Amino acid sequence: MHVTPTPAAQHDAAVDRALASAIAHRWHPVAAPIADDAVRLLLERLGPPDGARVLDLGCGFGEWLLRLLEAHPGVRGVGVDRSAPALAEARERAAVRGLADRVEFTEADAATWTGGAFDVVLCVGAAHVFGGLTGTLTALRDHLRPGGRALLGDGFWEAGPTPEALAGIGAEPGDLPDLAGLSAEITRLGYEPGYGHLSTTAEWDEYEWCWTGALTGWALAEAAGADRAAALEMARTHRREWLAGYRGQLGFATVVLHDLRH
Ligand SMILES: C[S@@+](CC[C@H](N)C(=O)[O-])C[C@H]1O[C@@H](n2cnc3c(N)ncnc32)[C@H](O)[C@@H]1O
Repeated sequence: MHVTPTPAAQHDAAVDRALASAIAHRWHPVAAPIADDAVRLLLERLGPPDGARVLDLGCGFGEWLLRLLEAHPGVRGVGVDRSAPALAEARERAAVRGLADRVEFTEADAATWTGGAFDVVLCVGAAHVFGGLTGTLTALRDHLRPGGRALLGDGFWEAGPTPEALAGIGAEPGDLPDLAGLSAEITRLGYEPGYGHLSTTAEWDEYEWCWTGALTGWALAEAAGADRAAALEMARTHRREWLAGYRGQLGFATVVLHDLRH
């Protein structure tokens, strides 16, 4: 999961970052601190209309999109990401689940990609691509038909932040809002929040143990030499930044948005 600032930007690893991120997210249903039940409920509340075209910006493994397509047989989707390993996994999952003819996964920079107006647009854990919350809300609007729906997932400060928490995600004070500020920005940009999920400490802990555990497991069982050392160091650094840094302070909100334009 990336909130606006990206901890990975601080790591100086030999192992390719896109590959490391794809490995780190192997064990968790989505690349954000959200449990299966909450993912299901958010998608249910997002409820795309019949025949909707859905776009996922920074789609990663495409799991949000694929689950939406499974639940709504008339829906078609496009996922955009710049990680080749993540997209390879997304295409594989689509093929295995018989969804390949209804979804297209495109390797591109989501900040500049264009593809017309969509009925529903998702952006979960990828707000850093658009420079933060305001840029993301603007980008969602650029891709949405008037009156469409969006799903936004981004970070906020539940408490603090202490200097250690800021350092843990490479953030400056003010880079992320508090929850009230996040909600106010959503309405300021012309959306109405229709439903939301606030990640619990248990969801964060599960997500971070999966992130560090999957990468550690890969380093010990599948990597060698400099890759092994770099992956282990990346997992250790991430674990320290989480436990000594942002744990209990960094929140994550996933919100269904209604575009108020008609
Ligand atoms: C934390 S993951 C979230 C993935 C997915 N939305 C999910 O919740 O499972 C962030 C994703 O943003 C992608 N990303 C980062 N920069 C990007 C860019 N400029 N354009 C497109 N995707 C980007 C990464 O490759 C990664 O897959």
